[in-house]
Amino acid sequence: MGESFEMIAKTFQGLEEVLAEELTNLGANDIEIGRRMVRFTGDKRMLYKANFCLRTAIRVLKPILRFTAHNADEVYEAVKGVEWDKYMDVKSTFSIDSVVFSETFHHSMFVAYKVKDAIADYFRDKTGERPNVRLNNPDVKLNIHIAENDCTLSLDSSGESLHRRGYRQKTLEAPLNEVLAAGMILMTGWRGECDFIDPMCGSGTLPIEAALIARNVWPGVFGRHYDFEKWPDFDPELLDEIYNDDSEERTFEHHIYGYDLNVYAIEVANTNAKAASVTKDVTFMQQDIANFVQPEQPALMITNPPYGERIGSPDLLGLYQTLGERLKHAFVGNSAWIISYKDECIQEIGLKPTKKVLLYNGELECKFLQYEIFGGKYKEFRSEGEKLNKEEPVVRPKLQRKPRREELFKDKEPVVVENERYYGHEKFKEWEQREARKAEKLRRAAEAEQAEKTETDSAESKPKERRSGFKSDRKPAGFKGKGGFKRDGAKGKRDGDFKGKRDGFKGKRDGDFKGKRDGFKGKRDDFKGKPKAKAESYPERKKRELKEKLMNNQ
Ligand SMILES: C[S@@+](CC[C@H](N)C(=O)[O-])C[C@H]1O[C@@H](n2cnc3c(N)ncnc32)[C@H](O)[C@@H]1O
Repeated sequence: MGESFEMIAKTFQGLEEVLAEELTNLGANDIEIGRRMVRFTGDKRMLYKANFCLRTAIRVLKPILRFTAHNADEVYEAVKGVEWDKYMDVKSTFSIDSVVFSETFHHSMFVAYKVKDAIADYFRDKTGERPNVRLNNPDVKLNIHIAENDCTLSLDSSGESLHRRGYRQKTLEAPLNEVLAAGMILMTGWRGECDFIDPMCGSGTLPIEAALIARNVWPGVFGRHYDFEKWPDFDPELLDEIYNDDSEERTFEHHIYGYDLNVYAIEVANTNAKAASVTKDVTFMQQDIANFVQPEQPALMITNPPYGERIGSPDLLGLYQTLGERLKHAFVGNSAWIISYKDECIQEIGLKPTKKVLLYNGELECKFLQYEIFGGKYKEFRSEGEKLNKEEPVVRPKLQRKPRREELFKDKEPVVVENERYYGHEKFKEWEQREARKAEKLRRAAEAEQAEKTETDSAESKPKERRSGFKSDRKPAGFKGKGGFKRDGAKGKRDGDFKGKRDGFKGKRDGDFKGKRDGFKGKRDDFKGKPKAKAESYPERKKRELKEKLMNNQ
């Protein structure tokens, strides 16, 4: 066992307990549940395993400094006092995420600037040069968290969010996040003891995550990369060892089914299942929920019907009624879990839930409800009398939107939190407008400076001119320009196309998951082709570049 240190696994609200259980099973120590995170200790192996094996963590942080600060200067001084050479050098690029819950610090971006300045000045004082900020795929990603006056500065060991397993090749509207899907499954207690059904599977996230859980295949097997691989103390043999260890995988005796009305969803789900090498365990078929029949084998159902937010349905309430009716008549003796958003929809299911869990699907506060379907005793657990009697006309209430978050927060005292969107807060809005004006001023100054630089550069070097003069010649992401200029977003390791990798996998996982990685024993880098990087859109790239420019010009 190597040197033990503290780590923080971040997750979605509502998944903290499942994450803590996962950590316990991995052998982590000193596990402590917080809000949207779980704190634990362990050594370097545990850090790698946490990234590789956890299904319900979004990222894993390694705190390197804790301090108390009452103003921005104290933040600056504390951060400047870190021995930064241990983590990066002047050539390294870096980025800072800031999360602030504080009456003292109202502006998370300002805190990020202070941390950036402190690191830049540390190196400038020592070498006369400063490292550059890079928001997209930096060498070192840092996270500063401030709760009132307590500050924690951490290294982000994951980099890209851990929900990006690497198997999603195609997507549809409103797919479930993989971390949320896995958390929902784990929460039900299912580990593959019976069949699994998602009758509205969309791109197949729930069935695919279920297949990985059933065989206990770690989500890291798809060969994605982690930011700790860029750290000076990276141990590639240790990561290879974890990658090649399939000793905890198990057999799965049952089957997983995914259905959807949309034939294209079935195509997408099949493509993703193939990429995840779970086709042996999962069958996708086009089917309207109205035609759902009693499964021959005992089964657990977990499903995520449309909420009428991003995905609608010509008769949303009718869809929920049909779902309830099918559960009642064609899922007898089984247990079903449904995640949904609007109470009006949930009521139409017409069954009384046996369990309710509050979960966030993106920004939507959802309910994850369990229904135990007992044979022949329907009336006893119906929540609302005889509403579904076919003879009576069904009067459907008009759909009512839940109050949006801005309404909920309207009268609250000002708190500014990055990633916590306190929309509609008057003071926050004023601040936003002020910040927007400041940013616009800086942007104009930066553009003027850039224009000046472009003029000078153009006299000397053509490619440089092309990069800075990209304005007039806009092309979509992935465009390879005339002069061979390739966009930043398309560069880098992960450009590998999934194609090829899967082919390498073929045969191996399609038979039995066992021996899956035998073909890959050795280095992870033998695993040809890397998960696709998310294509950066033109506006995203421009926004990132501007932010970097502002950070670097400060
Ligand atoms: C919110 S999406 C599910 C997303 C999915 N969990 C994923 O991760 O991609 C809801 C799905 O229900 C499907 N659907 C809508 N009406 C249906 C019906 N009557 N029968 C079966 N599926 C239906 C839609 O086609 C859509 O794919």
